[in-house]
Amino acid sequence: MTAQRKILVLNGPNLNLLGMREPAVYGSVTLGDIEAECAAVAEDLDLALDFRQTNHEGQLVDWIQDAIGEAHGIVINAAAYSHTSIAIHDALKAVALPVVEVHLSNIYKRDDFRHKSLVSPVADGVICGLGSDGYGLAIEAIAKLIA
Ligand code: DQA
Repeated sequence: MTAQRKILVLNGPNLNLLGMREPAVYGSVTLGDIEAECAAVAEDLDLALDFRQTNHEGQLVDWIQDAIGEAHGIVINAAAYSHTSIAIHDALKAVALPVVEVHLSNIYKRDDFRHKSLVSPVADGVICGLGSDGYGLAIEAIAKLIA
């Protein structure tokens, strides 16, 4: 029997406020709702789920590094750090795990400063604009990448 594979789902700043944050953009879903959706998808795929959120860039870098030898793939919504963080870009490149980037909103329909993501060049795939469904789709994509 093989050990259960683990998917790390990382969430960046202000995503803890989902549900009350800009509902016209992000809807009414909470991060707890998204975690429950991810847990259901992961269970169906027989994957272990490690779901986290932080408002701190260095914490995201630490968690990405900690994934070495621990997780088999990373789903990341780095939120605003997607557009600014060379440190997160470098960390994802360093760990060399399958990565799927997720954004709830379609960043290309929004402000110009959201059109560039520093995560995208080190991601295997990018899902944006599909709301919370994007997370489940990202987990399914990672499952295929590591199958
Ligand atoms: C976001 C899009 C980012 O531009 C923004 O800073 C966020 C959330 C999204 O999920 O749509 O905080 O990553």
